[in-house]
Amino acid sequence: MLRGLMTLSLGITVLAAGTVQAATPLDGVWLFDNAPSYPGVTMVQLSSDGGKPRGVVTTAWYGPMEMRNLVIQGEKATFELRNLNDKDHATRQWTALLAGKDLKLSGDIWYAHVEQSGGHGTAVDARARTFKTTVLPPLGSLPPDGLAKTPPMGWSSWNKFAEKIDDKTVRAMADALVATGLRDAGYVYVNIDDGWQGTRGPDGAIRPNEKFPDMKGLADYIHARGLKFGLYSAPGPKTCAGFEGSYGHVQQDAKTFADWGVDYLKYDLCSGEWFYDDADKVQRAYYEMGAALRATGRPIVYSLCEYGRFEVGSWGRKVGGHLWRTTGDITDDYATMARIGFDRNGRAEHAGPGGWNDPDMLEIGNGGMSHDEYATHMTLWAMSAAPLMMGHDLRQSSPEVLKMLENREVIAVDQDALGVQGKAVRREGATEVWTKPLADGAVAVALFNRGEASVTMTATPADVGLETVQAVRDLWAGVDLEASLKVFAVPEHGVVLLKVKGR
Ligand code: GLA
Repeated sequence: MLRGLMTLSLGITVLAAGTVQAATPLDGVWLFDNAPSYPGVTMVQLSSDGGKPRGVVTTAWYGPMEMRNLVIQGEKATFELRNLNDKDHATRQWTALLAGKDLKLSGDIWYAHVEQSGGHGTAVDARARTFKTTVLPPLGSLPPDGLAKTPPMGWSSWNKFAEKIDDKTVRAMADALVATGLRDAGYVYVNIDDGWQGTRGPDGAIRPNEKFPDMKGLADYIHARGLKFGLYSAPGPKTCAGFEGSYGHVQQDAKTFADWGVDYLKYDLCSGEWFYDDADKVQRAYYEMGAALRATGRPIVYSLCEYGRFEVGSWGRKVGGHLWRTTGDITDDYATMARIGFDRNGRAEHAGPGGWNDPDMLEIGNGGMSHDEYATHMTLWAMSAAPLMMGHDLRQSSPEVLKMLENREVIAVDQDALGVQGKAVRREGATEVWTKPLADGAVAVALFNRGEASVTMTATPADVGLETVQAVRDLWAGVDLEASLKVFAVPEHGVVLLKVKGR
């Protein structure tokens, strides 16, 4: 067993009422119940024993947070807490104030303002509420396992349903993948993102919440339709939506997932940002789950979601990852999609069979972009050899949306066996020419117009790396063109995608 449990000691003298002379009226253990779930304050400990004040705020999300620059004056303590989810405000100012018999705690963290009162507790209470921290294994290196030879394709619940996801909807999505032909076009993963988790049982095993009465049954249902089953967890104690994470239960959760029949795991940093706040710790945290998944013996695609921190593409494979997010979250609007797809899609040299840059899931079909903008979205992802995870309600796919998502020739660019991530070869004003070499010797060429007016564009043989052009096919139109690179009108926020053969 690489990982052991230990209790973190911050060197605080826990003051039980009556056992030690408190130096200030704030000294001691303060218990916070019914706290807002974020960050879930459970306890405050203060001590001025020996003249140097020390304090800790214990939370469900971040465990013990040490008070920095703590000053106790009269009945008021002021201090700073680290604020790691918000890099622009790395620390935040807090106060703890005596109010009658209670301690009133007040301060901001990430997106929340906390204002809460707690009453005195004892050393026994303090022990019961002490957060159990875990020790990460040393970093190891996992060999390739042959999975994800091409970028994974499927559907995920998050973009459309967020936490409002349940067994019935997931089954309906599996049915819709089959009925629409999307499965046969290659979209095989059915992934439940955040929001399926319930509480842990007495043995520590994670249990789904009431919306997922039978996870194994759901996996069987999905598998029976020729599809694969994906699930989501986090290395921290809490997921981004505040559900139970795998902290302290990594090996156990990996085994539970394998027993349920999971084929894909997305592992989302979230509250783990607090615990794993440098490159070494983040790598070890992701390695710990990577190794645990391997140890189950079940082939499980491992999706690293730490928003592109610490040059994840350079170590994602080593920790067992098959894809890794390169950005924060996509939203269903052109500006966000374009910022990610054009400019934050990861370094091409990191991508290839077995490991892919992941600029986040698709928004096609959710309604926030025009047809041309969604065509740009799909083209960017295909040219980037990005995972194609749909994120809309598949039951409501319009014929136009299905035609776009099921375009076999565009999918083939994404899924090309060479596994090269395409990139821009020329940028001029609002236009970009991208190329992606393909296994059959041809080159996919995309002419993107990021501007707000239609433009004319062309690619030169030099852009494509050819001397002579022998065949040109327009992949969105599905027609062969004359064997030359002509000038195209490219609409506002639109694209022309070509497959060019030559010498
Ligand atoms: C983060 C991830 C998203 C999604 C949510 C779920 O924001 O980046 O893709 O998984 O968490 O809470």
